[in-house]
Amino acid sequence: MSKILITSALPYINGVPHLGHMVGCLLPSDVYARYMRMMGNEVLYIAGTDEHGTTSEVGALNEGMDVQAYCDMYHQRHAQTYQDFKLSFDYFGRTSSEQNKEITYHIFEQLDKNGYIEEKTIKQIYSVDDKMFLADRYITGTCPHCGYEKARGDQCENCTKVLEPTDLINARSTISGSTNLEVRETKHLFLNLPKIQERLGDWLKTKEPFWPDVAYTIAQKWLKEGLQERCITRDLKWGFPVNKPGYEDKVVSVWFDAPIGYIGITKQWADENPSERNWKDWWMGAKDVRYVEFMGKDNVPYHSITFPATLLGTGEDWTMVDYLKGMSYLTFEGGKFSKSEKRGVFAEDAIKEFPVDYWRYWLMSNAPEASDSSFTFDLFASVVNKDLNGVLGNFVSRVLKMTSSKIGSEVPAGGNDTETEEALVKVLQERVNDYFKYMDEMEFRKALNELRAIWVEGNNYISTTEPWTVIKTEPERAAAILRTCINLIRIFAILSAPIMPDTAEKMLDKLGLKADDMPSLKGFSVKEEIQALKPGHKFEVGDMLFERITPERIEELKVKYGSDKK
Ligand code: 2FM
Ligand code: ZN
Repeated sequence: MSKILITSALPYINGVPHLGHMVGCLLPSDVYARYMRMMGNEVLYIAGTDEHGTTSEVGALNEGMDVQAYCDMYHQRHAQTYQDFKLSFDYFGRTSSEQNKEITYHIFEQLDKNGYIEEKTIKQIYSVDDKMFLADRYITGTCPHCGYEKARGDQCENCTKVLEPTDLINARSTISGSTNLEVRETKHLFLNLPKIQERLGDWLKTKEPFWPDVAYTIAQKWLKEGLQERCITRDLKWGFPVNKPGYEDKVVSVWFDAPIGYIGITKQWADENPSERNWKDWWMGAKDVRYVEFMGKDNVPYHSITFPATLLGTGEDWTMVDYLKGMSYLTFEGGKFSKSEKRGVFAEDAIKEFPVDYWRYWLMSNAPEASDSSFTFDLFASVVNKDLNGVLGNFVSRVLKMTSSKIGSEVPAGGNDTETEEALVKVLQERVNDYFKYMDEMEFRKALNELRAIWVEGNNYISTTEPWTVIKTEPERAAAILRTCINLIRIFAILSAPIMPDTAEKMLDKLGLKADDMPSLKGFSVKEEIQALKPGHKFEVGDMLFERITPERIEELKVKYGSDKK
């Protein structure tokens, strides 16, 4: 048994997650965690909300709330949504916790002691009326290049030119609209990344054979271009006050304490579950731990460069990422998800429309891995109707109904296996091995292709053996075929469980089994498992597993979720 630490990038607390967020890190990490547990490993799966920074301050301001109350409210909303999506975190914590503060301070002190923190004076835009320094994206003005009136302080969306806030004509605060802005000097602390660059490069080399291309290439590109010093303090109120004399009125940057949040949240988990292992068993000198991180591609540089450099700079033996799974983006009908423009499906609404496994299955089988992918209702309905309703659902209901009506509601006795069953076992074992291989490699689209192919083998088997015809002349043979088919339902349930936990439970329930009855996937032998349910074992036909999505429903959903808005 191996120890596997799994983290999902911590979603910003402001706003609610949409399908793109779900498939961008949360859902794949859950599928992997469930799979690894079923493989018999000791898994610690950690996630939480990323709460500090201007985005939370502005979010709270817009909703007329105190920042703490705003974060408390949204933390609950995130937690509820992820529970509804059946994400099996061992702990869902917060970057604003006392535990994260303690570890952030410790890491900061170590870096400072080791000479990696430097003081610098920089110029920033200060809004006199808002009484705050404005991050680039909180300054709006007219682009000097194209005249676009809503250009941001860092970039003009219209002509894509990169800007300095001071380039903008008629600059104003995005928060209040005030034009009473001044350039002020302010002291900040920087993490001296160039000083850690060499050690970081050496560490990265040790990862080369294991890391996925996309993550490795991004990290290498950054290293080649040479690392820049990175500001780790902010002139804000909401955050951990900097633990260094002279800096008490500033806070630690969100990007410094967010990845440390993985450790802080593990400590939250350990503090609230005293029976659990000490958090250090996972994070400090933990030679037996394999650490896998999931994130969107925009987060790769921070996780392959900034966070590892932060940990290396402490001179302590922290657990560093072993495998980094970076995901591309999911678009909505080819465009952007936007809550304000009412375009796109948000996770809270998704589960009101369809059972969660419809979404989990669609998202994972269309996961944006090698490149971006697009959600469309046409595609969604087609996958649900074909794969779930047509292949899996239909097989289960056909087998159980036929057996129940022709023989009775229990696994039939009689007959023997033939070469046909031997061939089925062989082909299924090959597919199962490939399915596991892709899951191990976190190649989720390929893994789901195999899972679907496994279900298809069941359908092919029943179509070619034709138990409904055979039963008229050879009832014993029909019994053997249907016994195999009922055992296939159990096998399909077990293999589908990491992707569709509710459906797996429903399938097992029809067979009078519980999720706890599932065997370990390690060494999974189709030859043995296909004999697991013996003659006389009772089952229930029950309801259909999935419902077809009609063309009328698709059109309704397109209107409701703004499919035509680009
Ligand atoms: O992109 C995001 O949503 C960030 N909040 C991810 C942070 S990941 C980690 F550093 F916490
Ligand atoms: Zn412009």
